[in-house]
Amino acid sequence: MAKQSSIKTPAMEYGRDGETPPAISNRRASRIPYPDEQKKIKDIERTEEERKWLSSWRLLNHSATPLWSLPKLAATLGIAQLRVKDESKRSPLASFKALGAPIALIRLILRLYPERSFEPAAILAGRYQDDLRALTVITATDGNHGRALAAAAQSSGCRCVIVLHARVSTEREQAIAAFGAEIVRVAGNYDASVKEAARLAATNGWHVVSDTSYSGYEDVPGDIMRGYGIISQEIIEQISDPAGQPFTFTHIFLQGGVGALPAGVLDYLWKFYGPRRPTSVIVEPRQADCLYQSAHLDRAAHASGAIDSIMAGLACGEASPLAWQVLRVSADYFMTVEDSDATTAMRQLAAGNGQDVPIVAGASGAAGLAGLQVACGNQPLRAMFGLNEHSHVLVINTEGDTAPSIYQTLVGESGQSVLARQSSRQSGHRPSDQACLPMAHG
Ligand SMILES: Cc1ncc(COP(=O)(O)O)c(C=O)c1O
Repeated sequence: MAKQSSIKTPAMEYGRDGETPPAISNRRASRIPYPDEQKKIKDIERTEEERKWLSSWRLLNHSATPLWSLPKLAATLGIAQLRVKDESKRSPLASFKALGAPIALIRLILRLYPERSFEPAAILAGRYQDDLRALTVITATDGNHGRALAAAAQSSGCRCVIVLHARVSTEREQAIAAFGAEIVRVAGNYDASVKEAARLAATNGWHVVSDTSYSGYEDVPGDIMRGYGIISQEIIEQISDPAGQPFTFTHIFLQGGVGALPAGVLDYLWKFYGPRRPTSVIVEPRQADCLYQSAHLDRAAHASGAIDSIMAGLACGEASPLAWQVLRVSADYFMTVEDSDATTAMRQLAAGNGQDVPIVAGASGAAGLAGLQVACGNQPLRAMFGLNEHSHVLVINTEGDTAPSIYQTLVGESGQSVLARQSSRQSGHRPSDQACLPMAHG
């Protein structure tokens, strides 16, 4: 592990010379125990409770998502171990977003109708459809969050309106509309769609279920962010040895859009591991670097580029202030990658090769691995992040082929075909049965 105590990392910045990929160390990252013991316990219990609520939703797979081990790729990268938490298997919706929107919708409904004493786990089973018909929820999306909200709204029986910006593909639009959502298109980028969703909600008395926060709007994004803690909770269970001794990784590479995913995952890891949390690297597209810029300016900031990445889920122009509050103190490094790096990582995961299982990862899904590959191939970055032959690295594949035709174009093979190779390669193996080592820095 790169750092063990509460020392402040000296500010280092690479990439301004144009020769090295941009990366910045976060001076405010803290290695103290989680600051609020009461909140820590409450939040861990809350995650367990929410997991139970979701456990009967028909649009979620009920086992933990796989935690693949890729020994061959790890050896190529010069690290000890590489594990991939595969959220493409979370749900037929094919992304981790299936965890956030449904939880936020349940909590919103409980807040709106406290007198009705709804049973939370029965909301997504449609038991209160008649009561919820008059409720309209709305969000902006670049695809995955809107699809998850549309599906959760349909299961619950409420109306759903989804605002899409100009660059969201028709393929993604159709996947959302398939869950009965009404689509509104706006010109401009993701941030324009966020503003339009807020305007429509205020005008019509609808309720925004957004994964990004803004002034005066934090409850719902907070619910969504904490919902992603389920991923961390599962990982910890999957890597604990039979005696319950938790293993931990030395590094985690996490892709960020508005920042809710990395914040939710890191916040939970910090609660669980305290000062021994893994070194974290936040990865974004170069053209949509709002979290990188936030680290640079020490406030939730705007991206410096055109926000037109093939990593559609990460193409966000503005960091979520709520997510930034968490990342500010729990994320160690921020880096950006090129679209071509994401394509390379998608192909690498799809290929599998030898001992490594083939994995279907969309461009946003493969971005964490793209960051790791770039870092491992660049000596200054490798040294900056403390990566070496003893490193145990975790990445999260946050989506499968959520835009199948784009996936096929970028990888040169359909997601279905990769999955078929995965199944034949996997027959006879459980995905997460690779031996875990004891605490990497105990
Ligand atoms: C597949 C995928 N990965 C990662 C992210 C990033 O999540 P966040 O915007 O919460 O940082 C998104 C966001 O839409 C996504 O769709």
